[in-house]
Amino acid sequence: DNYVIIMAGGVGTRFWPFSRSTNPKQFHDVLGVGKTMIQQTVERFEGVCPKENIYIVTSEEYYDLCKQQMPYLSDDQILLEPSRRNTAPCIGYACYKIATKNPQANIVVAPADHIILKEQEFREKIKIALHFSAKNDVLVTLGIKPTRPDTGYGYIQFTESEGDIKRVRTFTEKPNLEWAVKFIESGEFVWNAGIFIWNVQTIKKTFEMFLPEMAEAFEEIKKDFYSDREADALKRAYPQCKNISIDNGVMEKAENVFVVLSDIGWSDLGTWKSLYDVSDKDENQNVIDAQTLLYNTKNCIIKTPQDRLVVVNGLDGYIVAEYDNVLMICKKEDEQKVKEFVAAAGNKG
Ligand code: GDD
Ligand code: MG
Repeated sequence: DNYVIIMAGGVGTRFWPFSRSTNPKQFHDVLGVGKTMIQQTVERFEGVCPKENIYIVTSEEYYDLCKQQMPYLSDDQILLEPSRRNTAPCIGYACYKIATKNPQANIVVAPADHIILKEQEFREKIKIALHFSAKNDVLVTLGIKPTRPDTGYGYIQFTESEGDIKRVRTFTEKPNLEWAVKFIESGEFVWNAGIFIWNVQTIKKTFEMFLPEMAEAFEEIKKDFYSDREADALKRAYPQCKNISIDNGVMEKAENVFVVLSDIGWSDLGTWKSLYDVSDKDENQNVIDAQTLLYNTKNCIIKTPQDRLVVVNGLDGYIVAEYDNVLMICKKEDEQKVKEFVAAAGNKG
């Protein structure tokens, strides 16, 4: 059977103030389409697996948001981590939990905060990957044709061959700019979409090999899964887990990695610029979804509450974002400073 694990524990600080640790972007309708990002993510898997086989991994503090937005999920499908330790423990927990229920499970792991415009093509690629990983001892990812030397992604170098599935030669998580430029120029690399496909036995073996203390921690508490002892057991297991991403902890090291090249209209809505890029613009290249009166204003993204009238005169290339009790006005090209603002705002924001 197929299972889907949705990773939804991130806080999305690069998207502040829209994304807040109390209400991160995956629980927002970022695109203004009437559904939140996590709702869209769940629906995208329609036809890949039944809703009962979808597991969300998130923090305890987002339980209520999950229940509100996906009332059809049972408590067993909402996995609550006692602390945030990056994606390796998150994936390990969910895979070991699924393993106790179905040792033959085939698993797709996906982030809760991405856009995929070509849903049909996406499902086709996922099915190709699932079919391949069901019968082989492999770790499969989806690869996206890169458009710029972005240092926020994993870079996958693959071997040219016939067919949809390519063998991966190297996997480099978040290279520096110099390397990213070289990778792009070589034409041999694709971006890692952060979506992984494998069978449950393979991923267990992989954790045993590269993250043995994590494998042991989850092995030890697996008898408590699906019981009321689960939360306490996790509080014992998590401190034994390294704080590390699946990319650094597993994908960079493994040798049985394959990639399915995917033209699926993918975008990691990680930053203001990425939202600006994918959104519809007015005749002055502004992205607006609130009530605005704009004069001599261009190339801006204005995301403010619906009940506000925003009047702007003479801005070019700015982010104007208001959410809850914070208003931020920042040059678009300075958006890497957003992390500093978050830190400085601290409990003010
Ligand atoms: N449950 C849980 N717990 N979820 C987490 C945690 C955690 O501790 N940390 C992150 N997540 C979730 C995030 O909410 C997001 O949906 C997903 O896991 C990926 O984490 P990010 O922190 O967004 O990773 P990234 O964007 O820096 O890098 C990853 O994605 C890129 C593509 O978007 C890597 O896989 C890159 O290689 C890849 O290119
Ligand atoms: Mg991300």
